[in-house]
Amino acid sequence: MPALRTAAILVAAGRGERMGGDVPKQYRRLGGHTVLGHALRRFSGHPLIDHVVAVISEEDAQLYRRSAHGLAKLGPPAQGGATRQLSVFAGLKAAAALRPHLVLIHDGARPFLSPQLIERAIAAASAHGAAVPGLAVSDTIKAVDRDGRVTETLPRNRLRAIQTPQAFQFDLILSAHRQAAEAGIVDLTDDGAVAEWAGHPLHIFEGEPDNLKLTTPADFEKAERMLSPLPETYETRTGTGFDVHAFAPGDHVWLNGVRIAHDRSLSGHSDADVGLHALTDAVLGAVGAGDIGEHFPPSDPQWKGASSELFLRHAARLVAERGGTIANLDVTLLCEAPKIGPHRQAMRQRIAEIVGIDMDRVGVKATTMEGLGFIGRHEGMAAIASATVRLPGKDHEQG
Ligand code: CTP
Ligand code: MG
Repeated sequence: MPALRTAAILVAAGRGERMGGDVPKQYRRLGGHTVLGHALRRFSGHPLIDHVVAVISEEDAQLYRRSAHGLAKLGPPAQGGATRQLSVFAGLKAAAALRPHLVLIHDGARPFLSPQLIERAIAAASAHGAAVPGLAVSDTIKAVDRDGRVTETLPRNRLRAIQTPQAFQFDLILSAHRQAAEAGIVDLTDDGAVAEWAGHPLHIFEGEPDNLKLTTPADFEKAERMLSPLPETYETRTGTGFDVHAFAPGDHVWLNGVRIAHDRSLSGHSDADVGLHALTDAVLGAVGAGDIGEHFPPSDPQWKGASSELFLRHAARLVAERGGTIANLDVTLLCEAPKIGPHRQAMRQRIAEIVGIDMDRVGVKATTMEGLGFIGRHEGMAAIASATVRLPGKDHEQG
């Protein structure tokens, strides 16, 4: 077995007093997982992490099992202590058997760290032995006395707000923790402070603004907003489509998914539904996904006589895969005959069903060409369409 290189310790034995609620904050649900479940996934899914140890409280054993179910690289949980520092020490002792070279120590209450932050942490620990993620502060910070009176205004450009994961050479931080515990020091609030106390130089690498520690109910509300983007984080896109088909001998036409008896048919690839073809191109255009011919080449025999509903449904699926929704579809048919008016509601309903939206988001219109041009001469017909699509403006991973 290759030597384990990097372990991650996630501390989750706290009680979450400031958050309140029925279960400790790390076991509250946020999107599809618990807070701790999110954090565990970030580490167990990371290619540079070899082993993950969670530190939990005995009484949360069942909650923990549900959060950790099915995750790779996870050993049995370690038993937490009375302070965060002691919980980390317990995790380090549990991880020691794996003989890791580096260790990343992370708060189970920070669900939003990115894979890049894990990479920066590992690089910093390899280079410096002891490193913590920090952010420049934008608020001015003042020191106060017990009565809340300001004693000092701290120089902002020299301050950093410190997060986790904090990253260390394993032996360095294990022995620093051991020395601190033996000296009776048990309530240092982060591992950087333990390393400093033991006399190690501590480096800073760049943290992440979204990597917040869920501490109060307001933090939790913010986390929920981060997972479900608000309407204004969506952006609106519009696509257009146009299509023409010639008439040929026959007894019906397919228009916007509705079969209409007529003294001619439309000729062309698939069922020649000129309305659905224009709509498909409009939807594809709105998400920058090419055109109908690219997805369904006319030269491919499998689309001969195919129902054009397939094409529009495929375009709608591409929107859904991007996390988007179709806000509106609008199509105008250009023909002298057949008459569209009597079929308008059936067409709107059919289009709405194909893409899975409400009928009031679908417009169907028609116009004649006043006898002009190929359409006026009944040689063929055309359709012009637009699609309005809403897409998330920013990626929000649910992982
Ligand atoms: N932690 C721990 N063991 C402790 C105390 C804290 O493992 N004895 C963990 C928490 O579960 C959390 C992290 O350390 O993931 C950071 O601590 P904090 O945000 O203070 O969490 P709690 O102590 O649970 O919250 P509170 O202080 O509001 O009670
Ligand atoms: Mg605490």
